[in-house]
Amino acid sequence: MSVGIDEISFYTSNYFLDLRTLAEMQQTDPEKYYTGIGQEKMAMAAPDEDIVTMAANAALPIVERIGPDAVTTLLFATETGIDQSKAAGVYVHRLLGLGSRCRVVELKQACYSATAAVQMACALVARKPDSKVLVIASDIARYDLNTPGEATQGCGAVAMLISADPRIVVIDPEVGSYTEDVMDFWRPNYRSNALVDGKYSTKIYLKALKKAWEYFCEESRSSFRDFNYFCYHLPFSRMAQKAHQHLAKLCRCTLDAAEIEQQIADTLHYNQMIGNSYTASMYIGLCSLLDNTKESLSGKRIGFFSYGSGCVAEFFSGTVVDGYQDQLHTAAHASMLSARQEVNYDEYLKLYHYPDPQGGESLVLPHSTTGRFRLAAISHHKREYVPC
Ligand code: HMG
Repeated sequence: MSVGIDEISFYTSNYFLDLRTLAEMQQTDPEKYYTGIGQEKMAMAAPDEDIVTMAANAALPIVERIGPDAVTTLLFATETGIDQSKAAGVYVHRLLGLGSRCRVVELKQACYSATAAVQMACALVARKPDSKVLVIASDIARYDLNTPGEATQGCGAVAMLISADPRIVVIDPEVGSYTEDVMDFWRPNYRSNALVDGKYSTKIYLKALKKAWEYFCEESRSSFRDFNYFCYHLPFSRMAQKAHQHLAKLCRCTLDAAEIEQQIADTLHYNQMIGNSYTASMYIGLCSLLDNTKESLSGKRIGFFSYGSGCVAEFFSGTVVDGYQDQLHTAAHASMLSARQEVNYDEYLKLYHYPDPQGGESLVLPHSTTGRFRLAAISHHKREYVPC
């Protein structure tokens, strides 16, 4: 029996800031962002949007297709949680009308935890093949203003249905994991913005790639040549290009530079328009590959490198299933991205500083999102979510 991704759908906010605008305000050359880090736009969450509403929006098209009672478990991966105790997925469970017999839990390990959720989901399905596990990864990436990280903010959510005999990607059981206690990026409980040692984080990312790849090769007996495409964790698209060149060099790959670039180029489009979406980013990269690659991906093997600062990383693999095109939400993704609204710098600052009441006072939020769910109010420390 094969296990893997049966459906995949993503969501991002209807607002974005063009990085040319940020560069102009910072008196920086926009090419630093467009070419140097390979990013064009960054998504900014609407005031009435958070990880819960983004997650419900990402998962809705899947639940509408399979019906709410089909989902046996919901695993919610995030590193920008809204509560220290209650899992964000419990709100999503209600918004999507999932059955009361569906279990829900939240997972955290920086950007890696969506991959932990996918692996756990595969194990649950292997144990009970009629299970259908909804994995949702949802995050809002925030750094302090006027720091090098500012241009790498973004937000987004991705939902995947993990099942037996999947119709999109079969996931192989072999993995190469790597864990090391490092302080490259972290966010203490009392902060809403991440702290990061930027240059160090890029070095640790590459080290973790090498270690995870070596372990994966021992486990799977695969080599670089066995893969057609690679999906990397995408803090910014240039990171994936550097990582892929690094891996190709480690593997003494004889492909020319253009062929190496082609193995990842289509995974980058959505990230360049959204920015970092932490846990969701590698899987939004997979959506980008599936939606945008002109040639048929049927039977093609994909290598995945998932990285979460702190750090835990994992290399694993999957193969695209015949007929996968019929399961995609390509048109919905394209119309969502094309309908987004650009914000100017003052509007960006307003969104960035939107009040987040911490003393129990009431805040009614204006209707700004174009999504199907919104955060209507926060009152007495309780968040009130409603369908639109
Ligand atoms: P910086 O230090 O301001 O940028 O921020 P820089 O000076 O290194 O420039 C970046 C690149 O632009 C360089 O290219 C420059 O040469 C180039 P490189 O040398 O690296 O190839 N450049 C130009 N190119 C063309 N025209 C120009 C120009 N000017 C400069 N005019 C940094 C970069 C990544 C440090 C910053 O954005 C940052 O701190 N980001 C946040 C941390 C991050 O994303 N780290 C990635 C690895 S860790 C990770 O992926 C995990 C994470 O997602 C969190 C999690 O796991 O939860 C972050």
